Amino acid sequence: MKALQLEQPKHFRQIDLPEPGNPGPDEAVVRVHRVGVCGTDISGYLGKMPFFSYPRIPGHELGVEVVSVGSNVTNVKTGDRCSIEPYINDPNSYASRKGRPNCCEKLEVLGVHRDGGLRPYFTLPARKLHVSKTLAFDQLALVETLAIGCHAVARAQVTADDTVLIIGAGPIGLATLEFVRLTGARILMLDMNAQRLEFCQNVMGVKETVLANDKVEEELRRRIDGRLPDVVFDATGSNVSMSKSFGLIAPGGRLVFVGITTEEVSFRHVTFHRPEGTLLCSRNALPADFDNIIGLIESGKINTDPWITHRTPFDSVIDAFPSFTRPETGVVKAIIEL
Ligand SMILES: NC(=O)c1ccc[n+]([C@@H]2O[C@H](COP(=O)([O-])OP(=O)(O)OC[C@H]3O[C@@H](n4cnc5c(N)ncnc54)[C@H](O)[C@@H]3O)[C@@H](O)[C@H]2O)c1
Ligand SMILES: [Zn+2]
Repeated sequence: MKALQLEQPKHFRQIDLPEPGNPGPDEAVVRVHRVGVCGTDISGYLGKMPFFSYPRIPGHELGVEVVSVGSNVTNVKTGDRCSIEPYINDPNSYASRKGRPNCCEKLEVLGVHRDGGLRPYFTLPARKLHVSKTLAFDQLALVETLAIGCHAVARAQVTADDTVLIIGAGPIGLATLEFVRLTGARILMLDMNAQRLEFCQNVMGVKETVLANDKVEEELRRRIDGRLPDVVFDATGSNVSMSKSFGLIAPGGRLVFVGITTEEVSFRHVTFHRPEGTLLCSRNALPADFDNIIGLIESGKINTDPWITHRTPFDSVIDAFPSFTRPETGVVKAIIEL
């Protein structure tokens, strides 16, 4: 079977792999139907992702069908359509035993630390499969992106009384938006890219957007009756934005870092001490988030229609991929069809 491997940054190569054999007792073999392209894949392609090693088969946002299961497997059966929780944790690690498999010390993410889904078939631990009877493969491939936002919103314990600022209107900020919306909180979205804010307004139905400028604090106070937001999610991955965001919370406020930077983030302590701020990081998502999200899409509480802006068949990935790395093409979520 043909697979796509990132041999080195900016260089995809088609390779030939044998089809997987019979799964082990706790494993399943899946047929991949859809692969979502994510910022992580783009950073891996551009050589800017510190955890990415080469050569690597990318692909962790997956809509799959179960082809065969091992003798101990009870959570899925042949023919089931599933989303994949791509965070392969060690169940015996300290984090996993504490109910935090999302930040397992030995975590390996499919398509990042071990080979992912840009291939027709592969084998994985069956416990990482989450079934839906009704969702399309496109929708199943979106569940992982949404899970990042779901977990971040759960971390902040957002309620309907909160005013929430989401900084960064890329896929991760938009995933966060979907779950803040479900809480009934007031939402403002901030970005430095006007095109991304237009997408928020015109396609995602966001009423209040703010274009990044030097006077954001003043502008927020003007809009929110002199106050600042109760909760700020930073989904930019920019250390500059993250450093500034310490100064954007209301008394008793929470700041959640969903975006990731390898740079230093700094702030003046009194800025964050004065409102008695709480800083939270949000990493990956929990297994229950996947089932929760599948339920929310099935019941129509989350509409995935606006999400997919670009598509490509598997055979055209090598030519199409560079365009997915350019925000000016208007790409929010590109989907690869196998
Ligand atoms: N928490 C997790 O487990 C997790 C999972 C996946 C991705 N991420 C991280 O989330 C971040 C966002 O991912 P994405 O795919 O949405 O990225 P993206 O690049 O598509 O979106 C980031 C957005 O932030 C905006 N931005 C950047 N700097 C800004 C600034 N100074 N002020 C205002 N806006 C600014 C950009 O214009 C862009 O629209 C990345 O750091 C990514 O690594 C985190
Ligand atoms: Zn992703």
